[in-house]
Amino acid sequence: MDKFVIEGGAPLVGEIETSGAKNAALPALAACLLTEDTVTLHRIPRVKDITTMTSLLRSIGAAVDADGGTVRVEARHVEKPEAPYELVKTMRASSLVLGPLAARFGRARVSIPGGCAIGARPINLHINGLEQLGAQVTQTHGYIEAVAPPEGLRGSVVTFDRITVTGTEDLMMAAVRAKGETILENAAREPEVQDLADLLIKMGAKVEGGGTSTIRIEGVPSLHGAEHAIIPDRIEAGTFLIAGAITGGNLLVTACEPEHLNALVAKLRQCGVTVEQEGPGALRVRRTGTLRAVDMITEEHPGFPTDLQAQFLALMTQADGISIITETIFENRFMHASELMRMGANIRIEGRQAIVAGPRELSGAQVMSSDLRASASLVVAALVARGETVIDRVYHIDRGYEAIEAKLVKAGARIRRV
Ligand code: EPU
Repeated sequence: MDKFVIEGGAPLVGEIETSGAKNAALPALAACLLTEDTVTLHRIPRVKDITTMTSLLRSIGAAVDADGGTVRVEARHVEKPEAPYELVKTMRASSLVLGPLAARFGRARVSIPGGCAIGARPINLHINGLEQLGAQVTQTHGYIEAVAPPEGLRGSVVTFDRITVTGTEDLMMAAVRAKGETILENAAREPEVQDLADLLIKMGAKVEGGGTSTIRIEGVPSLHGAEHAIIPDRIEAGTFLIAGAITGGNLLVTACEPEHLNALVAKLRQCGVTVEQEGPGALRVRRTGTLRAVDMITEEHPGFPTDLQAQFLALMTQADGISIITETIFENRFMHASELMRMGANIRIEGRQAIVAGPRELSGAQVMSSDLRASASLVVAALVARGETVIDRVYHIDRGYEAIEAKLVKAGARIRRV
């Protein structure tokens, strides 16, 4: 099992380029199942979750051809409209094939995802939505089976009980080939949802309001091939901005979308960090003075993203004062706190809040990754810790960060994989 060995204390200086967004690439790949034509996707990040999704598409019967960051998918023949347990258990986003398979083939069978390190994460809202579109959904032997009526799925009004990102995406993909109009109310407004809407429109779908809380879709009988470049990964870019800030560096994060990072940039500025836009797709982060502690609450977009909470918490261990961090999206997303405490951080967890008192000098230690973003927070902390930190189970970070150690080394970090 790979580990990272990080020698802290080097400020990040120079440039780091952002990759394509994992969480936009995953639904885009699932959307390729909606047509028998070839869909060409650019800027697909080379991370483990993407390999899992392409394995899933192949097991369903699609031809997938990857050339660097460009992936071509042709789902002409589908042998088995099914997402097996072996793939779903390693990546919950496999359930994104439910909507497109039910829409195109009238049938989908997907293993029920279990709980994961950050919470129970049920998919009841995906299921309720599909039922609204006329599917019969049954659960047996650990699988969900959705069967459309003989005349196909039919448009409907779906009001989500709570905001769900992949639930919104799954339902969009089901609705684009349903008969009639679907209105998705209380839809997720994340940029990744908007990116999926843009791709679906290029494929011939009629979608309005992607990126807003009401999405209107007029079903069409078939979709066609398209070419699309995935948006930049705002969580990866945000992780680098936080890493630049914590190390007191001067770092230009390029190929990002500053608009998607407004909530983080505002928080960083409140902490006394300088963040400036340089050109259309680059943000420079600089810090010379002390960091001020600020409170933060995770929210759905455009609020502060839960996927940056762990990294921001690491930053607050170095800030002067008390910071209260409230996690509202997932019920168990503070696994990194106990590892940060082993490095010397002063953190108290009270239910959904983490109370961080800083600044505390961190010292290198052996620590364990528990999930993707938790491991990113340990990397961020290790970059300022005194001495050497060894991070175990970095396969978690490989799920969602493309070549993170190579990118950090380029900016002066002392990090190696062993
Ligand atoms: N929820 C339900 N029922 C559902 C769906 C969701 O109760 O049917 C609850 C969840 O348990 C959670 C909340 O609703 O408490 C929000 O979950 P959401 O469905 O929005 O999460 P997701 O779609 O499963 C995506 C990202 C996550 C990110 C969340 C929140 C992808 C592939 N995953 O997950 O990304 O944290 O949205 O923004 O897009 C990551 O990249 O590290 C990651 C975990």
